[in-house]
Amino acid sequence: MTDNGVSAHESWGTRLGLIMAMAGNAIGLGNFLRFPRQAAVNGGGSFMIAYFTALLLLGIPLMWIEWGIGRHGGRYRKGHMPGMLASLWRHPAAKYLGVVGLVIPIFILIYYTYIMAWTAGFTWFSLTKDYWGMSTQAQMVSYLQSFQGVGGSHPYHAAWTPYAFFVGTFALNMWIVSKGISGGVEKLARIAMPVLFLFAAILAGVVLTMPAGPGGETAWHGLEFIYKPDFSLLGSPTVWLAAAGQIFFTLSLGQGTLQAYASYLSKDDDIALNGLATAATNETAEVVLGGTIAIPAAVTFFGVSGAVAIANGGSFDLGFATMPVVFQQLPMGNILGAMWFSLLFFAGLTTSVALITPAVAFFREEFGVSREKVVWGVGGICFVFGLMHVAWLGHGFLDEWDYWAGSFGLVVSAIIEVIIFMWVFGAKHAWHEIHLGADIRIPHVFKHIMTWVTPAYLAAILIWWGKEDALPIILNTRSAGSSNPVVPADAPYIWGSRLLLVAIALAFVVFVRMAWRRNRYDDRHGFAEIEGPAGVGGGQ
Ligand code: ALA
Repeated sequence: MTDNGVSAHESWGTRLGLIMAMAGNAIGLGNFLRFPRQAAVNGGGSFMIAYFTALLLLGIPLMWIEWGIGRHGGRYRKGHMPGMLASLWRHPAAKYLGVVGLVIPIFILIYYTYIMAWTAGFTWFSLTKDYWGMSTQAQMVSYLQSFQGVGGSHPYHAAWTPYAFFVGTFALNMWIVSKGISGGVEKLARIAMPVLFLFAAILAGVVLTMPAGPGGETAWHGLEFIYKPDFSLLGSPTVWLAAAGQIFFTLSLGQGTLQAYASYLSKDDDIALNGLATAATNETAEVVLGGTIAIPAAVTFFGVSGAVAIANGGSFDLGFATMPVVFQQLPMGNILGAMWFSLLFFAGLTTSVALITPAVAFFREEFGVSREKVVWGVGGICFVFGLMHVAWLGHGFLDEWDYWAGSFGLVVSAIIEVIIFMWVFGAKHAWHEIHLGADIRIPHVFKHIMTWVTPAYLAAILIWWGKEDALPIILNTRSAGSSNPVVPADAPYIWGSRLLLVAIALAFVVFVRMAWRRNRYDDRHGFAEIEGPAGVGGGQ
């Protein structure tokens, strides 16, 4: 297999490897850090009802839609959303709409890798017992803030520390991607996923068997808080929006990455069952394992109200401050701490390698650049933007990107793809496409859900978010990371971060235009179908 341009479209080694890589794409920091926090701040049992509704009406339908779009694009050697959408809709606008699905993974990659760097740092700090002695929540928050360089009452770490972990994390990520789909991404998933599940199961077991905490509460009170159905907050739109946002983030929907991975399949490969298996694996990791670690541990030590207060206090306090407080009380706590943070690191790594895949596919397929050159070139530029996040975290740089790319943008991207796939390409063709090579028949009701309910649900979310969040955030009357207004000193950084987002998106609009000219694509005729990707096992 050559490594240039069109002929370089790759394939997955085995079906198990594909499922692991897809599940690895979905399972990430969102499952173990974001989910517990969202569940805690949105009322536990109420949140879960809204969450499962969103899973059924948005998550699973979009999973099939994205696999369908991706595999369809693969037939034209398109592993990126501009090409995929143009293959479904023969209109000049399609490719530009696809830019949303091409830049969002890049934006997320940049700040996501930085958060992964914290997990790498804390793996080391756990092993070496660096934070031992900081036994209260307040002390650990201060320790975390010192590492992040955002204050804290005591400088526990040199200023270069987060930069060092960021460099290492970024380089590892790029090195794996440079090894290719079956040689890098799939190999990583086959090692990282079992390790991740093993560590998560051990930690869940430890948390469930912990003795009662100072308030007499145990992990079971935490589980009851999450899993006992509670209808009291279901009248609150915030709970429904938070649940939908979590489904998007955790399943990697709207990020262009599931589509990119699916583009390496042939039309004889099943996507209906594999798509469902990916969603099921992610949900097991999130609801069963993710739900059994951080909240139950926090409830044991701080009670339900204490855990909720911690979750409300900061996005990362549960994972990076409360958990270390808990580990310090346990036998072999440093090993357990290292397991927790390395599990987060592995979860993040199998996601971050997916996040750069659409951009790699784009430059390889459209400009004939070799994989190594794209990975290190695009990676290098992303790294520089990442340094801005490291330096300006305290000014709201990361929160801003997380909101526009990691929340709002995902819904925009999903609306575009649902409309193009289910309405422009057409529900009949879409349904047929999803069932090519399928090992199961999807219940027919989902065809109607995908055509009507999913887009309506997405439109409702977008309108509500637009009014409640996007508008106040863009006007700086509230910040993206909290309900407080933006402080004047942070405003230049916030505007700078937004300008950067827009500039990167515009640069990709230009790249797409150049690609179409260079390859003389005719929007009204679409692309020539190339003999399909080799499919699972074809690359062996
Ligand atoms: N799906 C990825 C996660 O949960 C983005 O972290």
